[in-house]
Amino acid sequence: MQIVAKGLTYTYNPKSPFASQALKGVDLTIEEGEFFGIIGHTGSGKSTFVQHLNALIRLSGGQLRVGEYDLSSKKCNFVELRSKVGMVFQYPEYQLFAATVEKDVEFGLKNFRKELTEAEQTAAVREAIETVGLDYDALKDQSPFELSGGQKRRVAIAGVIVTKPEILILDEPAAGLDPLGKRELMELLHSIHGGWCKTIVIVSHDMDEIAENCTNAAVFSDGKVVLQGKPSEIFRQADKLFSLGLDIPMTARCALLLRAQGIEIDTDFTCDDFAEKVSALWRKGGNHAQ
Ligand SMILES: Nc1ncnc2c1ncn2[C@@H]1O[C@H](COP(=O)(O)OP(=O)(O)OP(=O)(O)O)[C@@H](O)[C@H]1O
Ligand SMILES: [Mg+2]
Repeated sequence: MQIVAKGLTYTYNPKSPFASQALKGVDLTIEEGEFFGIIGHTGSGKSTFVQHLNALIRLSGGQLRVGEYDLSSKKCNFVELRSKVGMVFQYPEYQLFAATVEKDVEFGLKNFRKELTEAEQTAAVREAIETVGLDYDALKDQSPFELSGGQKRRVAIAGVIVTKPEILILDEPAAGLDPLGKRELMELLHSIHGGWCKTIVIVSHDMDEIAENCTNAAVFSDGKVVLQGKPSEIFRQADKLFSLGLDIPMTARCALLLRAQGIEIDTDFTCDDFAEKVSALWRKGGNHAQ
């Protein structure tokens, strides 16, 4: 399912003294199959935008289409849309609520996949819990509140992927995790991407994460998309990103430092590619560099 937003606008608390225009005309297309990154400074509208994609925030200005679903139409089947577009909020572990891990994960299924038999539901819950790297038999009867922070996050993600949404949106999924937790989470997302989960959209403040993982990305600023393209194209525009209050990946910083020394590295800013290009240059130079 392709996502097409045109001229999307949104104001919180309209017609009140607290009115705040969060989106000021977002034009953005996300193709099916992408691992898409959304970046932008605090308050630039990222969360407001992604919450439109499964109609958690109802469209109030502009156009939005997700696959065959026209979100501006009164006839849009929002329940069906939500079963196909899964949303993992920032710090989703705060939304765990059920008495056991199993009941928490199964909640989404009961809403969206009513046609499943009891046995099919149990199998789907087991699969989701195992997909996020947890031991179903050991944890299913435990209270989610007794788990570690990282485990809670996984349970919360299992509760969204249990319906196998075609599009999975995650708002700052790795925020607050330690480096190993971050790496495992990204591996998990890559392992489901391209299978039943066709498109992944992540919101992130971490430029290294975007450079390493995303096929395409958009930069939000002040309620609009100001840059869009492959991470390798976006991160070449360091000055523009700095002027927007954003950073660049570590590899892009290294490339800038090398350029100042007269060494050009044409990289896509992933660590693997950067190391490969530097070592190719090294070999070409006959290993003379000190
Ligand atoms: N519930 C709300 N009520 C009123 N204003 C809000 C609400 N949520 C967001 N806003 C405002 O809308 C604007 C965009 O907020 P949004 O949360 O979409 O930004 P963001 O890019 O996700 O920021 P962050 O990086 O901090 O998560 C901000 O000015 C914010 O203050
Ligand atoms: Mg946000």
